[in-house]
Amino acid sequence: MKKQDELFAGKAKTVYATDDADKLILHFRNDTSAFDGEKIEQLDRKGRINNRFNAFIMEKLKAAGVATHFEKILNDEESLVKKLEMLPIECVVRNISTGSLCRRLGVEEGLDLNPPTFEFFLKNDELHDPMINDYHILSFKWATGDEITQMKALTFKVNDILASLFRDAGMLLVDYKLEFGRYRGALLLGDEFTPDGCRLWDIETRKKLDKDRFRQGLGGVVEAYEEVAQRLGVSL
Ligand code: ADP
Ligand code: CDP
Repeated sequence: MKKQDELFAGKAKTVYATDDADKLILHFRNDTSAFDGEKIEQLDRKGRINNRFNAFIMEKLKAAGVATHFEKILNDEESLVKKLEMLPIECVVRNISTGSLCRRLGVEEGLDLNPPTFEFFLKNDELHDPMINDYHILSFKWATGDEITQMKALTFKVNDILASLFRDAGMLLVDYKLEFGRYRGALLLGDEFTPDGCRLWDIETRKKLDKDRFRQGLGGVVEAYEEVAQRLGVSL
C-alpha cells in the first residue's frame, strides 16, 4: 500500500489517496482548532495521541459490532481507512447538558439528560455548522430516511458502548460528535473518535479532560488527553 496525493487538508487531519482506490490515509496533525477554525494552535504530541486513541476506540467499537472505516495504524500519526462517501452531517449525542445546547436553549449546565438527547448539524464551517432536522436532510437529499434511522441507532449504540467504557475508567462521556459515510451500500462510522470531538469529565471532580481545555484556554490540553489515554490503557 503506497501513499499518494494529498486529497484534502482539514482543520486537524490531512487525507491522502493510496494505490488502493478503496483506501485512504488519515494523518492526524498537531493542529488544534476551535470556533470553526478561528482559534488554531499546534499542540506537541497531539497528532500521535489522537491517532492511537482513535485506533483504540475504533477497535472497541468494531468488537462491539459497530462497522467502522478503520483498517489499521500505519505509523505514529497515520492510519489506513476505507474511503467513504461522507454524508455532510454531524451526529451529536449528549448525556449531560453543556456547550452549544446551553447557549441555544438557555438550559442549566451539567444536567443529566435522561434520555440522552440527539442532534443533527450540517457540516459547514462558513455557516458555523447549523443545527438541522430530519426534514432538512430529506428535503435537501443529504441522506436517505433509512440512513437517518441508521445514524441515530448507531450513534446511540456508540453511546452505550463508550459511556460504560469511560465510566469504568472514572470518566463521564458528556457528549460527542460522529460522522458517517457510505461504503459499498453500507453506512459506516467514519472520521475519528478522540478528545477533540467529545467531552469527557472526571467522574468525581468534573475536571474537563477534552478539547474544552483548549476552547476555554484552561491549559494542560495534551496532558489531559494523555491522562484519558492512560486511564483507558491506550498505549501511546
Ligand atoms: P474538518 O473537515 O472538520 O476540518 P478534519 O481536519 O478532521 O476535519 O478533516 C478530515 C476530513 O476527512 C473530514 O472532512 C472528514 O469528513 C473526512 N473523512 C474522515 N474519514 C473519512 C473517510 N473514511 N473517507 C472519506 N473522508 C473521510
Ligand atoms: O463545542 P460547542 O459548544 O460549540 O458545540 P457543541 O454542539 O456543544 O458540541 C457537542 C459535541 O460535539 C462536543 O463534544 C464537541 O466537541 C463535538 N463537536 C465536534 O467535534 N465538532 C463540531 N464541529 C461540533 C461539535
